[in-house]
Amino acid sequence: MEEKLNQILTESLKEIANANDKTSLTEIKVKVLGKQGELTSILRGMRDVAPEDRPKFGALVNEAREKIESAILEKEEVFNKIELEKELAKSAVDITEPGINHEKGALHPTTRMFNKLIDICVAMGFKVVEGPEIETDYYNFEGLNIPKNHPSRDMQDTFFITENILLRSQTSSVQVRAMEKLAPPIKIISPGRVYRNDSDGTHSPVFHQLEGLVIDENVSMADLKAMLTSMMKKVFGEETTIRFRPSFFPFTEPSVEVDVSCPTCHGKGCKVCKGTGFLELLGAGVVNPKVLEMSGIDSKKYRGFAFGFGVDRFAMVYDGITDLRNMFKNDVRFLKQMK
Ligand code: DAH
Repeated sequence: MEEKLNQILTESLKEIANANDKTSLTEIKVKVLGKQGELTSILRGMRDVAPEDRPKFGALVNEAREKIESAILEKEEVFNKIELEKELAKSAVDITEPGINHEKGALHPTTRMFNKLIDICVAMGFKVVEGPEIETDYYNFEGLNIPKNHPSRDMQDTFFITENILLRSQTSSVQVRAMEKLAPPIKIISPGRVYRNDSDGTHSPVFHQLEGLVIDENVSMADLKAMLTSMMKKVFGEETTIRFRPSFFPFTEPSVEVDVSCPTCHGKGCKVCKGTGFLELLGAGVVNPKVLEMSGIDSKKYRGFAFGFGVDRFAMVYDGITDLRNMFKNDVRFLKQMK
């Protein structure tokens, strides 16, 4: 009996060592340890063993069983490891493969200028108000003292959609909307896109403006001048000088155009300012009382001033850009230089 047990043990261990997959391991398990297995039948043969030898023999059988079981477990581990390695190899990440390069973006010069101007104005107490880009004739023109068929309309080549609906040609339209809606004192800015039927080296059919409007009981041209001077110094630097020239806009009286000393050459004359040392950057003025009245504001009690910035032009002057078309081409090479 003992001899047979040893034989089963040696053979099983050999078979286990030679097994090359999990299925053969299971087969060995059944063959040796199963209900009809070799070791089980040896246990059944215990009755042929002399009673005094039974405990010793039982212990031997258990020992053999444990040896076989742990040999099977060990071998199973080996197969598990091989499987895992295969699985890992299949889904392995090649860390040496070059990745997809996601370039870091940057804000467009116009966006940066918008942010800068809005920050300065908000710090001065202005509220931001927006209006629609598809506008009615009334808000874009009539409410700003530009009647139908009046020659002053020629100042802006407008895209009309119907006789009364158009793409706004100026953010001044938001002034009228704000005056109708808000009670004075009013202190708003309105940034946004505007459209004109114009396209060449210095004009684009779409561009950006920032409108400002202040209405209160005691405001004057002097306040406008002080505020614009302070704003321009904040944008272009303390050394900037500002020039006010008389001009005409139907919605302001008096009206001015404002020039700023060229930040590139500091007034000496260069390519950016076309040798003049100054750049025309904005229109402004004291709100025409007629405009106040049309929007239901008492012009005896209230006065106002307004200004309109050409934001793309501000950005060009600030960054020393000379061709307006670059601002709208979305050429990455250009935008990269502007980071
Ligand atoms: N809307 C004018 C333009 O597009 C600019 C302007 C001038 C705006 C005077 C104003 C202003 O608010 O007071 O040319």
